[in-house]
Amino acid sequence: MQTTKIAIMGGGNLGKAIALGLLSTGKYQPDHIIVTRRRVQEIEDLTEKGVRVTSDNQEAVRASELILLCVQPKQLKQLLQEIKEHLSADHHVLVSTITGISIEEIEAAVGKKFPIIRAMPNTAIAIRESMTCLATRHARREQMEQVESIFDIMGRTLIIEEELIAAATVLGASGIAFCLRYIRALAQGGIQMGFHADEAQAIAVQTCRGAATLILEGGQHPEMEIDKVTTPQGCTIAGLNEMEHNGLSSAVIKGVVASHKKIANIKK
Ligand SMILES: NC(=O)c1ccc[n+]([C@@H]2O[C@H](COP(=O)([O-])OP(=O)(O)OC[C@H]3O[C@@H](n4cnc5c(N)ncnc54)[C@H](OP(=O)(O)O)[C@@H]3O)[C@@H](O)[C@H]2O)c1
Repeated sequence: MQTTKIAIMGGGNLGKAIALGLLSTGKYQPDHIIVTRRRVQEIEDLTEKGVRVTSDNQEAVRASELILLCVQPKQLKQLLQEIKEHLSADHHVLVSTITGISIEEIEAAVGKKFPIIRAMPNTAIAIRESMTCLATRHARREQMEQVESIFDIMGRTLIIEEELIAAATVLGASGIAFCLRYIRALAQGGIQMGFHADEAQAIAVQTCRGAATLILEGGQHPEMEIDKVTTPQGCTIAGLNEMEHNGLSSAVIKGVVASHKKIANIKK
């Protein structure tokens, strides 16, 4: 397991975050990881950490067992065209992080039946706090377990049906932006009440972390924790109700649904 060689094809935002996440666990040495991109000079910092960085995708495939596809959707066709002759169903497992491209479409592009797993992590993978959803059609159980164990050390993992991958993209990957915009809004309220920006941000961030940890560790419904904070006729319920009168929950639900609709129309 520790010696599995991983090729990350497409060392952009996500690919680089995965490389950094794997390294930060200490379970993967730099020589277990190869990262490819065409403009290799953009990821010189990975080279400095001892990671092999190359623009030669075919060589990276030959030197690896697990292949993580991290290019943009429109870049995938060309990448698969380049590497497909070097893929072997006995030796390789393909893990695609790419939004909007199904296992069936990847299989058609590769031209053979192949163990393919779709993974939907988020950028918190760089700090080992990702929420990653995994789905497969043809990977064997042990291949799935191996990929799950890799993503488990970089956060939490949930195995889902492939039909829900688009929804997982919105909730988990876009969800990072949704949560951060809320944190920014909370901090802005703090500034208006008199805090300096850095103080307001520190309070907002740690409060959101505490709220999330209460649910992660306690496992109960958020409303049960909300009940503990909302004194009758108090300031918290006044603030919460004002937010809801202005459509807080409704805006979030509509935003999530709008993202989900958009995913279906992303150009490949
Ligand atoms: N960002 C997220 O939170 C997130 C979460 C889940 C899934 N995803 C998915 O992850 C994928 C990557 O997203 P991103 O935000 O990381 O995009 P990105 O920053 O644009 O990264 C894509 C990388 O692929 C490289 N690339 C393009 N063609 C290549 C080729 N033929 N061979 C090797 N490398 C190639 C590009 O570098 P060069 O131009 O130098 O080659 C670029 O660095 C997308 O499909 C996205 O849907 C992203």
